[in-house]
Order: sequence, then structure tokens, then C-alpha cells
Amino acid sequence: MKKYLLSVATLLAGLSAFAQPQLGKDKIEDVIGAMTLQEKVNLLHGFRAPMGTESKFPGAAGSTYAIERLGIPAVWMADGPHRLVISPSRSFDSSVYNTTELPSELTIASSFDTKAAYKAGELIGQEVSDYGLDVLLAPGINLLRTTLGGRNGEYYSEDPVHAGLIAAAFVNGIQSKNVGVALKHYAVNNQETNRNQNDAIVGQRALRELYLRNFEIAVKLSNPWSIMTSYNKVNGEYVCESRFFNEDVLRSEWGFDGLVMSDWNAGRNAVLSIKAGNDLLMPGQDKQRAAILAAAEDGSLPMEYIDLSVKRVLEFVLKSHTFKNFQYPNETDLKAHSALAREIGANSLVLLKNEANVLPMTGVKNVALYGTTSYDIVPAGMGFGATGHGYYCVSLVEGLRKAGYSIEKSLIMPYQMHIQAENKKNYPNGLPPFSITAPLRADEFIPAPEMLEANVKANDIAIITLGRANGEGADRKREHFYLTANESELIKTVSEAYHAAGKKVVVLLNVVSAIETASWKDSVDGIVCIFQPGCETGNAVADVLSGKVNPSGRLPQTFQVNYGDALADANFPADYVFDMSAFSRAYAIDAKTAAESAKLKAEPVLKKDIDYTNYEEGIYVGYRYFTTFGKEVSYPFGFGLSYTDFSYELLSSAIEADKTTVTVKVTNTGKVAGKDVVEAYIKAPVVKRGLDKPARELKAFAKTELLQPGQSEVITLTWDSAWNASYNEKKAAWQMDKGVYNILICKDAQSEPVLTASHKIK
Ligand code: BGC
Repeated sequence: MKKYLLSVATLLAGLSAFAQPQLGKDKIEDVIGAMTLQEKVNLLHGFRAPMGTESKFPGAAGSTYAIERLGIPAVWMADGPHRLVISPSRSFDSSVYNTTELPSELTIASSFDTKAAYKAGELIGQEVSDYGLDVLLAPGINLLRTTLGGRNGEYYSEDPVHAGLIAAAFVNGIQSKNVGVALKHYAVNNQETNRNQNDAIVGQRALRELYLRNFEIAVKLSNPWSIMTSYNKVNGEYVCESRFFNEDVLRSEWGFDGLVMSDWNAGRNAVLSIKAGNDLLMPGQDKQRAAILAAAEDGSLPMEYIDLSVKRVLEFVLKSHTFKNFQYPNETDLKAHSALAREIGANSLVLLKNEANVLPMTGVKNVALYGTTSYDIVPAGMGFGATGHGYYCVSLVEGLRKAGYSIEKSLIMPYQMHIQAENKKNYPNGLPPFSITAPLRADEFIPAPEMLEANVKANDIAIITLGRANGEGADRKREHFYLTANESELIKTVSEAYHAAGKKVVVLLNVVSAIETASWKDSVDGIVCIFQPGCETGNAVADVLSGKVNPSGRLPQTFQVNYGDALADANFPADYVFDMSAFSRAYAIDAKTAAESAKLKAEPVLKKDIDYTNYEEGIYVGYRYFTTFGKEVSYPFGFGLSYTDFSYELLSSAIEADKTTVTVKVTNTGKVAGKDVVEAYIKAPVVKRGLDKPARELKAFAKTELLQPGQSEVITLTWDSAWNASYNEKKAAWQMDKGVYNILICKDAQSEPVLTASHKIK
């Protein structure tokens, strides 16, 4: 009898499983139709395993919700952008899950090489796939509105076309491995200070031409699986709660058909988010679930909205490796990936100054390294979205030694001891993994005169490295743009001592945002902006210094003379000091009762640049301002030298209704092999009663292959002619003024064009 009962139960269970629609086998509508309201609500939120439960992928940022009875698995997402962020170790597992630390996003963008960005994407996509995850929460593509933006290293450029094209290539590279991305942080996420509440007050023209154009290009050219909305508000509305951003622009105008997810705990009103087309709330909070459930039950959130977002989540799940039961190897080719990281890093470094060909360091044997950063290099940024560093980093000392240089030994110990002492002073309780202010770095150590004298005698050249570390959670402050008194003193002392002996000095900038260079650049012979090139930093830098690789990177951001020179600087929290009481007030942390909390929130003290930021500069961000208004800069956007020279010949150009094309022949006229970057800008006509126009705007760029001396390459650049138009706020429409449009081929955003082609639009 017992046996009989059991088999009836098994049969019924089997039948009910059989009767359930299954994702992938049955129509999506039927699967949705079989869901309870609670299940639908659950699917609109990420899933966090209860504390103490073993995660499938320790260290991953989150997953979607699984409903086993309907064949819906959890899809796994992990942070990037330059490294797949998962924990290298797992409980009861002796394997190590290391992942490659690529150059930071900004470094990759500095290559001005979409092929390199594609390769970087392929590499990280391969690791996502090899370790069995589904989606990389990257890339971040917000504009570098100011030099102090805390996450600039996680972004690409001050120019939207540059950012958009690099992003599209990176995303295409990742998605070629059948895993997805979350293109982020959509949109206008240009400051970290008070990022969960800050309201970016930005005009429609700047919004369209700058802050949305990068996303538009990336969305149209790479069809990302998902978009992550940003924390901030724009013009009074949280982006995740805005139909304008998520439905009108992203979906209706640009044709995006994927999933929109929120940044982690972004927004305030979960119901509004779903109504706005922000389908998935990450990582998902109980109070959000409750609010959506209640709104669904009382009808204030109509079921069509819920069903539509559920459908988009399911379509996202359907694409995933996890859904397809992909058998992943759970290991990846780290060795090959390191070699590629090195190649991409070296391809991105920017040579800013090379007086009397001090570089490459041929004929140099003995090198003296100065600057604490020479012994404590910063391979990448920090924060949740760029968490920590990879499993190794080739130091500068190691990279140069491997390249055959002998490094001054007497400096190593004193520098190491100095750094240790400084870190102890700054962080008595140990170094934090990330910080709410830009992390303090050890200040400079100035070698004693006798030590310096001995170094000068024993070495052929001095290298000074200046570094800055920044990342998610805090913006840089004005003071981080400037050199400290000791940094200036170090440059002065070392330069004078080496120059007096007829020897040269090279400065390396280990930064992801401009720092002050104008006051000291004349006192040194060479400057290389090495950015943050990831795990292979020392090797990538040595490749360029030794001449094994000819530098071909270009600046993705203007190096301004002073902080305050850029128009946007006037509206940025450059001197912000974190104020816990204001923070508590804003979040009503101190409130004891709900009524008190409501009162505190109802009386906010809104502070300029903290609670709201006026984008008064409009479209005049970065070089658009400096070039148009003839303002002096230290190094312009797009600038970068080479160990060789190139000449240019215009072969053809045309502005047609749909596309604009320019074809240029580039010839290496120097003595060594090298790659060049062709930058094409448009100078649009300024007509009476028309719109004002920036003096030039980047529309396309390309990097040549490695050209041997005398060798040429024909480069054709093409872009959508619609990009030549400007946005008319009054008419709420794009406007192509009649007149002469000049296509300018330039070496950077400020110097005279090397070629010009004019076309009249009637
Ligand atoms: C960051 C995102 C990141 C997410 C998940 C947030 O703090 O802004 O960039 O993807 O955390 O870790």
C-alpha cells in the first residue's frame, strides 16, 4: 500500500512538472502566464543568497532570480571593467580562480585603437565564459567631464565619439564569446560625490550631443545585452525612474531591445523604476519587492508593466550560458592573456615629451628610479566596480630589469622603508581596500645630497614616477591635480643634479586623470603618460622606454594648465570634505521615528555641487571649450608623440546624405617602425541666427598597422552624417545648418590640421 501511494505521488509530481511551461521550450507568454504574482515580482529583482549560504560564484556581484519549476535558472553577473571580479579562492576547493587584470578602461581608450579594444573585450569575455559566468558589468562609458572625476579611470574619454567607438569595439569583443555586458552608468554619472542623490542639471543640447551620444553609438554599434542605469538624477529625476531615458530615448529612439538594470541599490521608488522600463532592480531589496507587490495588488502598477519587464528578464536569461547549460572548463589561459594585456598596455602609453630623443633608452645601462610610485606602481583603479588588483603586477623595477637595465640598488631600500612609514602614518589600521576620499599615497622622499651625487655618478639616466590612485566612491580633490611640495622639490632636485652632469631625466605619469604638468615640464627631458596598464605594467612601460614598442597612444583627456581652466571646473565639488552630519541628515540616518525621518527628508538643505550640479558649461566640455575659446592647455586631447614621423595625403572626402567619408594616406617618413593615429574632426559652419558650434569635434579615428620606414597605409574613416548636426533645444530636434563643413585631419584637438577638406551643404 505504502509503495502504491509513493508511486502515485511520484506520478503526480511528474505530471505537474510536465504540465508546467518551460522556458526555452514553451512560448515566453505561456511561461509568464504560469507565474504567480510573487514569482513575477521576484524576477524583477536580483537574488542574494541568504547569509551563510554558499555562493556558486564567490565574489561575483549578483545574479537574477531562479524559478526552477519553470526552467528559469539564475544568470550570473560579475564586475569588470578591466578584470573579471570573482574571488580567487572558494571554500572546500583547492583550485585558484585567477583572472587577468587588463589595462584600465581609460588606458585602453588611449590606444585610440578599436582593434585593441575589441581584443581586450575578447580576452575578458573569454574569462567570463571559461569560469561559467554570464554577464560582465562593464564597460563604464561616462564622459570625463572634469579631471577630478573619481571614476575617470573606469571610463574612456572626454569625447563622446571616442568613448562610444571604443566601447562598441570592447562590447563586440566580449559578446563575441556569447556572454553579455551591462553598459553603464546610463547616464550623466560624472561625479562620485553624493552620487546617490546628486542631480545633474544639464541642458538638452549637451545631453544629446555629449552625455547620450556615447551611449547611442555604443548601443547602435554593439547591441549590448543590457544597460545599467546610474545612481544620479538628471534634471530632477532618477535615471532609473525616468521613462524619458529608458523608454523614449534608449528604446524608442535608438532601438535598444535588451534589458535595463539598475546600479546596485540605485533610485528611491521601485514602482517608478518598473514603470520607467528599468526592468531589473539590483541587487534587490525586500522593501522594493514589497512595494512592487503592493502596487500590483492595488492596481497602481498595471500588470502590463510587470509582464513586459519580466519578459525582458526572461529574454536575457535565454541568451545566457547558464540557461544553455554551457560546460565551462573553469580555467582560463592566463599566460596568453598576460601577453595580450602587455601588448594592449604598451600600445596605449602616450609619449608627451621627448627632448633631443631622450627616449627610447638605447645606449643606457644604469637607471636610477625616483618617486615613491616607482616602487609602488598603481596598476588600476579601485572601488566596487574596479575592485582590487589582479593576482600579480609586474613592478617597474622588474620590468626594466627584464629589459636589460640595471636599477640603482641604493635607492630601493630607503624608498621601501619610506613608503612603509608613510602608509603607517596615513593608515594606522592598515590600508583600506577602498576609501571615501581619494586614497592617500605616500608623499615623496627626497634623497640626501650625497646620495643623489653618488646616484648621478653611477647612472646614465633618472626616471621619476608620479602617481595618483583614485576610484569609485570619491572624487579627486583640487589638491590631487597639483603636485605636492615634495613632488615639485623632487623634480627640481633630481633634474638639476642630473642636468649638471649632462644626464637626462624622464618622468612617468601613473595617473588616469590629468595632473598639473605646465609648471615643471620644461625642467625634464622626457614625459610618458603610462596611465594604469594593469598586471603587466612594468613590462609594458619597459617595452616603450626601451624602444621595443614605439609609443602610439593619444590623450583621451586635455591636460589643462590649472584646475579651474575648464569651464566645468566651476561646478564640481573640487574642495569637498565629507560631512557625516549632512550625510546622516540627507539619509535621515539619525531619525528615531518614521515621522522624524519624513521631516528630515522634507527639509533638505540642498548644496551646490553636492546635491545638485549645474552643467553650466553646456557643450563646452574638454577640448570643445579649450580649442573654441583659444585657451592655453599643457597637452591637448588627442596628443601623443612617436619615435618616428608620419606624413599625410588626402585621397578623397565626401559628405553625403547618410555618411561622411575621408580617405587619407599615411606614410612613415622616419627611421623606425611605428603606428600612427588618424583623427578626423568636423568644423561645422556658424551661421547667422544658427547655433553656436565648437571649433572642432572628433567624428572618427583609426590607428594604422605597424608601418615600417617608408611604408604607407590608406585609412578610410566613415561616420554617420547625422553626427555632423547640432541639437536645437528650442525645436527639440537635430539641426544641420547650411554652409561649409570642414573635415580636419589633426594630430590633436588643438594644433593646426595636417589636412583639410571643405564641403558645402546647401
Ligand atoms: C557600481 C557598479 C557596479 C556595482 C556592482 C556599484 O557600486 O557603481 O559599477 O557594477 O556596484 O558591484
